[in-house]
Amino acid sequence: MNQAWGLTHLFPERAARHGGAAASRASPPPPRRCRTIAVAGGKGGVGKSTVAVNLAMTLAIAGRETVLLDADLGLANVDVLLGLTPTHHIGHLLDGSRRLEELLMPAPHGLRVVPAGSGTRRLAQLGNGEHAAVIRAFDTLAAPPEFLLVDTAAGVSDNVAMFAAAADDVVLVVCDEPASLTDAYALVKVLSRDFGVRRFRMVANMVGNAGEARQLHAKLARVSDRFLDVAIDFAGMVPRDEFLRQAIRRQAAVVDAWPSSRSALAFKQLAGAVDTWREPGSPSRGRIAFFDGQDASPAGW
Ligand SMILES: Nc1ncnc2c1ncn2[C@@H]1O[C@H](COP(=O)(O)OP(=O)(O)OP(=O)(O)O)[C@@H](O)[C@H]1O
Ligand SMILES: [Mg+2]
Repeated sequence: MNQAWGLTHLFPERAARHGGAAASRASPPPPRRCRTIAVAGGKGGVGKSTVAVNLAMTLAIAGRETVLLDADLGLANVDVLLGLTPTHHIGHLLDGSRRLEELLMPAPHGLRVVPAGSGTRRLAQLGNGEHAAVIRAFDTLAAPPEFLLVDTAAGVSDNVAMFAAAADDVVLVVCDEPASLTDAYALVKVLSRDFGVRRFRMVANMVGNAGEARQLHAKLARVSDRFLDVAIDFAGMVPRDEFLRQAIRRQAAVVDAWPSSRSALAFKQLAGAVDTWREPGSPSRGRIAFFDGQDASPAGW
């Protein structure tokens, strides 16, 4: 948009005060930076989608412009968790029939969701070029949101690793099971060794209390400190909560359905902590990142 036109029409008094010509010479405001947070964990069923949906919804309820990308391609369930019925998904972006903008589905409280499509083998078997096209398509958004949350699939495949590595922050969802810890460690190893990700944030899910959550973090941090050159910060905990399970059955976020439940309060605390996280640095060289300004045309896949 022409800057002078925007000033004159949106702020007529200010434009007049500063003079039309001066206003048109003024440098454009710096582009707003979108913070991107990938939710991962390695193991299936540890609560990645639950955390992604509720964290995104908490931010949206707080008035923060938020988009949630379902990156569990081929086995999508963010739409199910939120009771949405998508007509289009990532597959339509990749075959060129829809732009990313057209995939944004309205969810409660102004949250917008990019659905991934379910039961489509093709989507579950995308190559790195297609993953990169999805990530780069975000550069085409006319108005980037304040937050992009990315719900990733289980496992340590390139699909998971590319989406996680493309984000500013990787949140590891871990629960108190040996396989959850070993799978989270495996994911940290892949992301640090092959993608240069050095900082992680851990959320302990389905725990009984804060002490258990801290113990879980200590276990993961101890082994990672010893064998990998990474930092894993403790980001928070979500208690095991029957209200959360009921909300899932109702196809609603618990922060929306039962805002005073223990899990909803935990998500609010987590969302509050996001603002205290250090500003993201630039992604390491060679890594494809969300909103890194590269031209993005997801044509041909
Ligand atoms: N804090 C919690 N309290 C109670 N139940 C929970 C909690 N978090 C998750 N669950 C239960 O665990 C189930 C799996 O959660 P979710 O689908 O978010 O896991 P996931 O890691 O995304 O799984 P997948 O790897 O299949 O994508 C939920 O359906 C819910 O029943
Ligand atoms: Mg999931």
